[in-house]
Amino acid sequence: MQLELSSAYLERIKHFKLPEELDKVNREFFLYSAEQGTAYEKITISGLYHAIRDEMIADVNDAGWGKSEDFNRLTDYQKRMLMTFINNACLGAYRQWIEDGKQMPLEDVIDMTNCLVLGGVRSFFQMKTRKLHNLTVSEVGMGCMAFSHGYGQIPSEQYSIEAIRNGYDHGCTFFDTAEVYSPGLSGIGHNELIVGKALKDVRENVVIATKLMLHGFSSGSVYQTIRKHLEASMKRLQTDHVDLYYLHRMGGTSVEKVAEAMGRLIDEGLIGGWGLSQVDVDIIDRAQRVTPLTAIQNIYSMVERDSEAAIIPYCMAHDIGFVPFSPIASGLLSGKITPQTQFESYDDVRNWVPQLSRANIKGNQPIVDLLKQYAEMKQATPAQISLAWMLHKYPNVVPIPGSKNKERIVENLSAANVELAEGEFNALEASLNQCRVYGHRGLGGF
Ligand SMILES: NC(=O)c1ccc[n+]([C@@H]2O[C@H](COP(=O)([O-])OP(=O)(O)OC[C@H]3O[C@@H](n4cnc5c(N)ncnc54)[C@H](OP(=O)(O)O)[C@@H]3O)[C@@H](O)[C@H]2O)c1
Repeated sequence: MQLELSSAYLERIKHFKLPEELDKVNREFFLYSAEQGTAYEKITISGLYHAIRDEMIADVNDAGWGKSEDFNRLTDYQKRMLMTFINNACLGAYRQWIEDGKQMPLEDVIDMTNCLVLGGVRSFFQMKTRKLHNLTVSEVGMGCMAFSHGYGQIPSEQYSIEAIRNGYDHGCTFFDTAEVYSPGLSGIGHNELIVGKALKDVRENVVIATKLMLHGFSSGSVYQTIRKHLEASMKRLQTDHVDLYYLHRMGGTSVEKVAEAMGRLIDEGLIGGWGLSQVDVDIIDRAQRVTPLTAIQNIYSMVERDSEAAIIPYCMAHDIGFVPFSPIASGLLSGKITPQTQFESYDDVRNWVPQLSRANIKGNQPIVDLLKQYAEMKQATPAQISLAWMLHKYPNVVPIPGSKNKERIVENLSAANVELAEGEFNALEASLNQCRVYGHRGLGGF
């Protein structure tokens, strides 16, 4: 029996991208059940199928199945498969109802599938969102640099793509890259190509930020030069627009000219918003007067707090997002680095990150200990506490921790689930303020 899709139905599902979601999960489900037939039976044991077949959709939904012990025992992948199964069962049940001559308003089916597919598969991993001016992004984003540069050996392209997609599957909708991210910073676009491949079929659901580096304007205007960089980035990212386009470093560039060019690109619909990186409040103010900024991306973490004095307050007052890079202090705040840790010899920024010299790792131990103490108390990890700290502190902050490891990426994204109560935050902040920080990079230099 064919379902007739009325125009009202199509109108409603348009915003949910339901067909794509269904297609994707269905494909995964069939693949999975073909490969591992037994898992299929296992998940039916939950009885959800029968609940659905018995028209108990609402009950299933209200029963808090997502919290049931059975459900929590499943791996993330199995949970996704289970949702797929439910979805299939919903459609099956709907067909059955029609065949049985029962009436079911299409609206109910839409709500049912939206609720189960989008409200289930996606929202199970969905993250709270924040606004960077006009852009809505997941509370924690993903810094993609290390798949190409900065932390030693890079993973295979396949692994990197899977890691980015896994981040998306765990609710991340904000991805950070730059044209210069390539092994040893010796080429252009390595990272953008990976990000483009990883996100091309979910492009409409994500916010992609990339950055350009300007080295003078030998030919053409600032606008023409920026546009050329942008077009090359868009090609690598397999997209017809970039959501957030940053100038990576000021260099000797006139910020007013850049702001004007960015304003034009916004008007042309080629970028959704613009930003600056590693800048002080005077530059921000000059830029803001020409074209309102979307976000500032500066170094910021528990051990790099220069932006707290004037920059973050300025951003808050002017509805500008603040995107901290190196929010885990290049790994220091994860508590996994010791004075004995050997960094890699090629393309590893940890060899010069000031807080990571042997002496400074030792000196900063009280801060790491403080994080460990809170991590134990909150059943979280030190890296998560350091991210939860900044999320609690400022409503316009969206950190972009970087990792080239699938599990640690998920760990960092899950920091959005770590809530610090006001008293906990105040005590943490007070203790942090008592600690001396050893090593400082600040906004100067590269
Ligand atoms: N605008 C700029 O100038 C600028 C500069 C630098 C970076 N960025 C952007 O900011 C993003 C983040 O910066 P970042 O990568 O320097 O900072 P980071 O997240 O503070 O540090 C990354 C380092 O910490 C480790 N790490 C991350 N999470 C961990 C965890 N949960 N447990 C243990 N170790 C963990 C990573 O190791 P593993 O990979 O082994 O997990 C890696 O060595 C970059 O990806 C890039 O997109 C921008």
